[in-house]
Amino acid sequence: MKILLTGSAGFIGFHTAKALLARGDNVIGLDNFNPYYDPKLKEDRNAQLLKEKNFTLVRGDITDRKTVAKAMRGVDRVCHLAALAGVRYSFEHPEEYIANNIQGFFEVIDEVKKQEIPGLVYASSSSVYGDNTKFPLSEGDRTDSQLSLYGQNKKDNELMAHTYHHLYGFPVTGLRFFTVYGPWGRPDMALFLFTDAILHDRPINVFGQGKMQRDFTFVEDIVAGIVASVDKNYPEEVFNLGCGRKEELMTYIATVEKACGKEAKKNFLPMHPGDVTVTDADISKARKMLGFEPKTMIEQGVPRFVEWYRKYYGV
Ligand SMILES: NC(=O)c1ccc[n+]([C@@H]2O[C@H](COP(=O)([O-])OP(=O)(O)OC[C@H]3O[C@@H](n4cnc5c(N)ncnc54)[C@H](O)[C@@H]3O)[C@@H](O)[C@H]2O)c1
Repeated sequence: MKILLTGSAGFIGFHTAKALLARGDNVIGLDNFNPYYDPKLKEDRNAQLLKEKNFTLVRGDITDRKTVAKAMRGVDRVCHLAALAGVRYSFEHPEEYIANNIQGFFEVIDEVKKQEIPGLVYASSSSVYGDNTKFPLSEGDRTDSQLSLYGQNKKDNELMAHTYHHLYGFPVTGLRFFTVYGPWGRPDMALFLFTDAILHDRPINVFGQGKMQRDFTFVEDIVAGIVASVDKNYPEEVFNLGCGRKEELMTYIATVEKACGKEAKKNFLPMHPGDVTVTDADISKARKMLGFEPKTMIEQGVPRFVEWYRKYYGV
């Protein structure tokens, strides 16, 4: 297939592109290499993709309709992962979130409709569950109370996708990712911050006094779920993609310490208002309909990240 992949220089986009290319798909990557985090990391991921003959990069912005229209021409599927992905940054720069995550999503989905592309898969988030306290979180549970503008953006994307599907009939699948980690991971996320601080003998910030629990999902497992969604191309679905095993934050930190071979100096802090206390995915729907089966637990996945980090940064 020929697939337009937005956010191809991003963490999940890069791994998704590699998997699609490895099985022989043609991938058109679209990314604006924004400076939300070090663009060098994006450039380095992208340089790897450019070595593949079936990969083409469009350097541009999803909020620019002309760019989106040109990149989309003649593709079989659109996989839309580009977004501003940090929860906390959405408190400081709400306007950027509306532009990239709402307007940007609209430009992509409206162009899918216009060009009659036969399938759209897009990234949603576990953040749509907001302050829900019924666990594990299932797709049918309430998603009407988000705790951040980022969570609201993702819920808005799901509603827009539902409406477009209802009106125009093309297949749309939304994927609610649960805390994704792995090699080439994002510098603003916990695993990167912990590893970086521990290896440089700086204290780590432990939010929520270490009482939070997270369903941490290894990036290769997420990619398997994305690729299966692209292939199944269901008329209209939303899936949880998580590991299906929740971990105490302190257990996660102990796993990072073990992989780094050092104990962390810990700076315990209260919860950030945008954070949820627990995420815990019910993945039975994805198991059944996508054949989704997470293979990598934190005991294997965290050391793989630390190994990558040490090699990439020479620490
Ligand atoms: N990583 C996670 O744990 C997680 C969890 C839930 C949902 N998600 C979602 O998954 C998707 C991918 O996340 P990620 O972790 O790979 O983040 P990332 O920031 O590494 O990747 C996003 C990419 O999109 C690009 N981008 C952003 N705005 C753009 C625009 N206007 N035009 C073109 N490109 C643009 C960025 O430059 C970046 O390379 C996002 O939609 C994110 O919200 C991620």
